[in-house]
Amino acid sequence: MSRLLFIFLLLTIIAVPFVLSKRSLVFVVDTTISMTDEISIIKSNINATVDSIKDFDVEFILLPFADPEVGPPINETTSGFLDMVHLLEEKGENDCPEESLGAIKMALQRSGPNSHIYVFTDAKPRTKDIDEIKTITNMCDIQKSQVLIFLTGKCSPTDPIDAVYYDVAKNCRGSVILYDLGSLRHAFKYIKEIVKTQWNQVDAQYDFLRGKNISFAVDTYTTDMMISVAGEHPDIEIINHLGEKMDVQRIINTSTACVVIMQQLTEGEYKAAVTGVDYGMVTIYTRRAIHVEFGFSSKLPRSLDETSKAPIPGISCYILVILDANLELTSIKLQIAKTGEEIHLQYQALDKTRGYYVANNIFEHGKTFKLSITARHKENKTVIEGVTPPVKPQDPVRPLPARSQVFLSRVLFGQTILATLFHFNVYL
Ligand SMILES: *[C@@H]1O[C@H](CO)[C@@H](O)[C@H](O)[C@H]1NC(C)=O
Ligand SMILES: *[C@@H]1O[C@H](CO)[C@@H](O)[C@H](O)[C@H]1NC(C)=O
Ligand SMILES: *[C@@H]1O[C@H](CO)[C@@H](O)[C@H](O)[C@H]1NC(C)=O
Ligand SMILES: *[C@@H]1O[C@H](CO)[C@@H](O)[C@H](O)[C@H]1NC(C)=O
Ligand SMILES: *[C@@H]1O[C@H](CO)[C@@H](O)[C@H](O)[C@H]1NC(C)=O
Repeated sequence: MSRLLFIFLLLTIIAVPFVLSKRSLVFVVDTTISMTDEISIIKSNINATVDSIKDFDVEFILLPFADPEVGPPINETTSGFLDMVHLLEEKGENDCPEESLGAIKMALQRSGPNSHIYVFTDAKPRTKDIDEIKTITNMCDIQKSQVLIFLTGKCSPTDPIDAVYYDVAKNCRGSVILYDLGSLRHAFKYIKEIVKTQWNQVDAQYDFLRGKNISFAVDTYTTDMMISVAGEHPDIEIINHLGEKMDVQRIINTSTACVVIMQQLTEGEYKAAVTGVDYGMVTIYTRRAIHVEFGFSSKLPRSLDETSKAPIPGISCYILVILDANLELTSIKLQIAKTGEEIHLQYQALDKTRGYYVANNIFEHGKTFKLSITARHKENKTVIEGVTPPVKPQDPVRPLPARSQVFLSRVLFGQTILATLFHFNVYL
């Protein structure tokens, strides 16, 4: 290994946060005086929004900003967050542009990986903060967070939307959507859809001038897709591999944003034909899942029948992992809830052709964990990553006669786990 590569690996390891914190939803709200109407729209939509997504393992953070103050970010319980939103007050100044880039940076600093930053402002960013883009892009890359900018103004009505916002959005898997006061409530509908489905791939590298045809492939692991088009009078049509226009669910259709959802897609090549009056931006959300079965046993198991769905703590325990036969296991990690500790497990193939693998570990009582699995498609080498739902080791019980122990542990189960597809060559 070259020294350079070694240093690179070291940096990567240091840069990736190990703590499995909850996804943060950071509401970055411009509170200058011109935002009076927007703040009242935020207040009238926030309760229902929070109510519909609060159970999705998220934490809410409020980050108000008004020139020259940015923050501080307020991290409260869900009800505390709502109280704080209802206490928001606009401040005396009416400057334009605003310190929105500093606020976005602070939001990224304050939030964990995979967080969502929602920016509500009616002003363009200050030019003297342009250098922040590099930091913001870097943080979005490392944290895999998203930044969505909901704009309700542009300093001067004749100005175009500031290109800096587009840069931030493109580099942070987001979008810039211009709403008028009458349609700002749609921003909340979009927020709900983004949080509810656990999208594991978000691409925002598409922009267009008046129109564009974007091809995308749906593979066997794709379960849901959502496409958002922002711009002036945007529209979208989805065309399947047979060249037929598909009937898709349109959840938002305003004069500046249109969002469609697709479920149960069959495998194949598709085309999204997007149109608009001028410049526009497309964000594609994909959710993929793989079916993985797993079980635990103190003896080397030959099948799921010989395992139980939670390990017995304190003794050496085998983990049987069964993948789709087209996949080959490349790593198993144990992620401890609470501490966020990650432990790489050694594993071996029990029957590679059927996708059977075993690892071994001694589990600790009371330490709930998840298994993080990376696999590779045997033929095209596509890499898939997924995490199981949490598993809690068994409570200590009085030892039972051997026969009934086996009988009790004959629990069969499987879980669909979320997966992210990567192209293998990126990693070599
Ligand atoms: C937010 O605050 C809670 C409790 O005060 C804490 O447990 C949690 O870790 C905080 N979140 C972040 C991202 O710091
Ligand atoms: C919204 O939530 C806040 C904080 O929990 C509460 O005080 C307020 O009455 C709620 N408003 C509505 C319209 O439900
Ligand atoms: C997209 O493809 C259609 C034909 O399927 C074509 O008529 C249209 O001009 C294309 N649009 C762009 C922007 O290339
Ligand atoms: C790899 O093969 C699977 C199964 O045939 C397919 O669904 C997937 O789209 C392929 N991936 C790539 C990148 O070709
Ligand atoms: C979407 O809204 C536009 C007006 O902005 C309208 O012309 C169009 O018919 C709508 N499309 C759908 C599918 O509702």
